[in-house]
Amino acid sequence: MKKNIILMGPPGAGKGTLAKQLKNYYNLVHISTGDMFRDAIKAGTELGKLAKGYIDHGDLVPDEVTIGIVKERLSQKDCEGGFLLDGFPRTLPQAEALSLLTKEINRPIDTVVNLDCDEKELVRRISGRRVCKTCGAPYHIDTMKPKVDGVCDLCGGPLYQRADDNEEALKVRLSHYVNQTKPLLDYYEKAGLLRNFNSLRGSEQVFDEVKEFLEK
Ligand code: AP5
Repeated sequence: MKKNIILMGPPGAGKGTLAKQLKNYYNLVHISTGDMFRDAIKAGTELGKLAKGYIDHGDLVPDEVTIGIVKERLSQKDCEGGFLLDGFPRTLPQAEALSLLTKEINRPIDTVVNLDCDEKELVRRISGRRVCKTCGAPYHIDTMKPKVDGVCDLCGGPLYQRADDNEEALKVRLSHYVNQTKPLLDYYEKAGLLRNFNSLRGSEQVFDEVKEFLEK
């Protein structure tokens, strides 16, 4: 089974949703750089203060900072059994640093799962997304509603709208995706690791298709 996995796709494609499903099903470690930065912002650390200035405007946090936190996390013992990288790498220097690191720690990437989605749907998903403040589970006000309005089904935490889920920041996030992250699809295609999935299908169907592929 493929167990060292990179999840790619534009903002709102469903990386976080799929990562949570795969994590629960296969007991993989979920490494989301976005979640790590948001946790640091919540905790008021130096990393959080630095990251907030970039994230709120939709800009990328500098490579050296992001590479540093991923290196530290991916080298930990619990990643031995498999990991899901969600939101990393996003630039060529990040992809090159990851390639060196995975060789160093002997945890090679088995596959890159890319979620395709059109821009109109990304805007719809992001503008209606709500996230649990406690456990980070994603919801949508129309299509993935919690059982009780404003309350997380999984842990009972309150739901909120991310500071960068607004039209202006989304434009910036999409342009960083197109200019800096999308070219990495070629990089991983050449490495023979890329597999594309249509994320316009419902999240359960995407999960089933990815599961089948990982177990092949
Ligand atoms: P990050 O948190 O990684 O945000 P993102 O990549 O913009 O992705 P999102 O979390 O917005 O979307 P997603 O694909 O996870 O979609 P989700 O599953 O929630 O990064 C945030 C910021 O941190 C960046 O802008 C940057 O500043 C910084 N950062 C992070 N990593 C960095 C890095 N490597 N380098 C530099 N800076 C970095 O789903 C979205 C919505 O759609 C939800 O409402 C969900 O319910 C719904 N949905 C999901 N799947 C489906 C489906 N199949 N059908 C219908 N609805 C669905």
